[in-house]
Amino acid sequence: MSVVLVTGGTGQVGRALLPLLHGAGHDVRVASRTPERSARTPGQLVEVDLVTGDGLASALAGVDVVVHLATTNGRRDEEMMRTLIAGVESRPEKEPAHVIYLSIVGSDRIPLPYYRHKTAAEELALRSGLPVTVLRSTQFHSLVERLFSAQHRLPVLLVPAIALQPIDVPEVAARLAELVGQGPSGRVADIGGPETLQVGDLARLWQRLRGRHRPQVPLRLPGRTFAAYRDGEQLVPGPPFGRTTFGEFLAREG
Ligand SMILES: NC(=O)c1ccc[n+]([C@@H]2O[C@H](COP(=O)([O-])OP(=O)(O)OC[C@H]3O[C@@H](n4cnc5c(N)ncnc54)[C@H](OP(=O)(O)O)[C@@H]3O)[C@@H](O)[C@H]2O)c1
Repeated sequence: MSVVLVTGGTGQVGRALLPLLHGAGHDVRVASRTPERSARTPGQLVEVDLVTGDGLASALAGVDVVVHLATTNGRRDEEMMRTLIAGVESRPEKEPAHVIYLSIVGSDRIPLPYYRHKTAAEELALRSGLPVTVLRSTQFHSLVERLFSAQHRLPVLLVPAIALQPIDVPEVAARLAELVGQGPSGRVADIGGPETLQVGDLARLWQRLRGRHRPQVPLRLPGRTFAAYRDGEQLVPGPPFGRTTFGEFLAREG
């Protein structure tokens, strides 16, 4: 069994991953900038800021695997990866820690600024010479729900005219737990949810299950980002990994 440090362990994927790691018998450490606010998180909480590097050296002491899930949803993801790699490289331990990074399907093909930083972070990891694993996932069901619920002030529901293949967070966590046990694997196969649906269809399902009745307005935008989505760069071809549908997620989350 391993000593595993989970950065972003207080986030949505982290919270789903921690019980799986405990269940597999690992010794789990959870990095957070504000451990006092996350007192109910299972595992040993350690105070770490991956932008400044504060607390990282002691958090990494004796660690075999780092599951790096912390995100700023922006350019600082690249900086955080740089800080993490430097921290792992400067440890006194002879064996380098295995770094597992969760990224996004199509991050190198969809020219969104956030995706550029995700791709840069992936490349930093893959070129570091450390034992690494990089997993890309499609959008989470929770993100799709937020896309709709965030529009609560609008009289209509704007639905980008593209397809998505959302996945359930516990299934992403399950794959990460598998990768912890598997050892360094480089870039592994992308994972996506069980259904590829037009956002309009996902929105209709959401409206039905959440009792909303707004007219849906399809959104088409000029530019390379929308074109990449329209071309399906956010999707994973082949047999799906995830099994939980968006409808099942909505029913479960009530
Ligand atoms: N959302 C999606 O649809 C999707 C799809 C594919 C991949 N992903 C990727 O999945 C990963 C996990 O996402 P998530 O939704 O679980 O994240 P999340 O819920 O937004 O949580 C973000 C985490 O990052 C930590 N964090 C932020 N800034 C930090 C810093 N400076 N130092 C240390 N920790 C910091 C936070 O911890 P504290 O606040 O406790 O410090 C928090 O636990 C991300 O890399 C994301 O890009 C997301």
